[in-house]
Amino acid sequence: MASLLIHNAAQIATATGRYARGTDMHHVRLYARTSIYIQDGIIRAIGSPLELEQSFPPASQVIDATDCAVIPGLIDSHTHLVFAGSREKEFALRLSGATYQEIASQGGGILSTVSATRKASKDELKSIAARYLSLALAHGTTTMEVKTGYGLNEETELKLLDVIEELNAEQPITLVPTFLGAHAFPPDCTKSEYLDLLHRLLPRVATKAKFIDAFVEENYFNLEQTEVLCRKAKQFGLLPRLHVNQFSSSGGVALGLRLGAVSLDHLEKLSNEEIHLLAQSETVATLLPCVSLFLGYGYPPARTLIDSGAIVAIASNFNPGSAMNLNMQLVMFVACAQMSLSPNEALTAATLNAAYSLGLSDTLGSIEIGKHADLVILDTPTFEQAIYFFGINHSKTVIKNGVVVWTC
Ligand code: NIG
Repeated sequence: MASLLIHNAAQIATATGRYARGTDMHHVRLYARTSIYIQDGIIRAIGSPLELEQSFPPASQVIDATDCAVIPGLIDSHTHLVFAGSREKEFALRLSGATYQEIASQGGGILSTVSATRKASKDELKSIAARYLSLALAHGTTTMEVKTGYGLNEETELKLLDVIEELNAEQPITLVPTFLGAHAFPPDCTKSEYLDLLHRLLPRVATKAKFIDAFVEENYFNLEQTEVLCRKAKQFGLLPRLHVNQFSSSGGVALGLRLGAVSLDHLEKLSNEEIHLLAQSETVATLLPCVSLFLGYGYPPARTLIDSGAIVAIASNFNPGSAMNLNMQLVMFVACAQMSLSPNEALTAATLNAAYSLGLSDTLGSIEIGKHADLVILDTPTFEQAIYFFGINHSKTVIKNGVVVWTC
């Protein structure tokens, strides 16, 4: 039996349970000078170094974590990982005054990445995404939700799901696939033809994806199109998690809650009524701090959501148009510095609550006996220092299921 002892960590910091809502997000459990004993990928004990030495046989591998903080593996619950091409020219256009919507209406935006992605072979897409995954892993991400949505035709959307499935088997980060065929309407068929295609694809998609997503926004998918698609998708077992209220507040939150969405993501434009509805619900409010940073628009009302009692997660939204970042340590920093989360809340949002939004918090998202040993050993003695000392990769060692998968 493989065993791993993380010896004498200066600090272990973790949220606990299945999720934390509202002000409970601040209640992070802290242990000082503590060890973790892992057997067959599962956390078996958390205790003083002496206690664990006396209670367990010598571990097959020991990592000395003196002077290091240990946190749960980071869970990035909103990404658009698989795409070809790059959009730094749009970045420059935005810096000279063009808005995200103006660029999209002139043929840039999502459709420009669709065009590059359709031209790429499956192997090319895999190798591009594999490089991004290795960067995410190095920064402590051990689980990642991955959306399709840059194919927008049958062949490429299914190819993207195959890429996610193959990469899931070939590298350490657990990938959770979401079908986002409803990301934009493609230029080469009518809206009604495309909606028909999305409906027809659902039975096949449901064998590969866990969630259905749609970009609910003016010029993208309206409430009725989203509702009909999601209700049908649910019949095939695909649970909704939706892009809503990014640029406008047009009923996406109420629709998502009616549909029983597991997560509603973006939420930059929220009314007080919508904040109240989210706070009363079991639906996770997934906020994407680096989009506001990257696009230079307002941040979502994170503080009010948390103070009202919502279950808040944070994610990178890694994509070429609105957040070319997959470093979850930076996401936590921006959540604190710009959205007024406490470091404790940011940790809970990037681990336990993100796991809950993916239906994985029974086994992932916290450092607790019986959970999978997905851990990040930091090069700082406290996790707060790693958030505060921003712009640096503070991962020293990344552990997935009790196995060291990255070390600096
Ligand atoms: O979440 N808003 C929709 N999707 C992405 C942007 C995708 C793109 O610009 O390529 C987002 O911000």
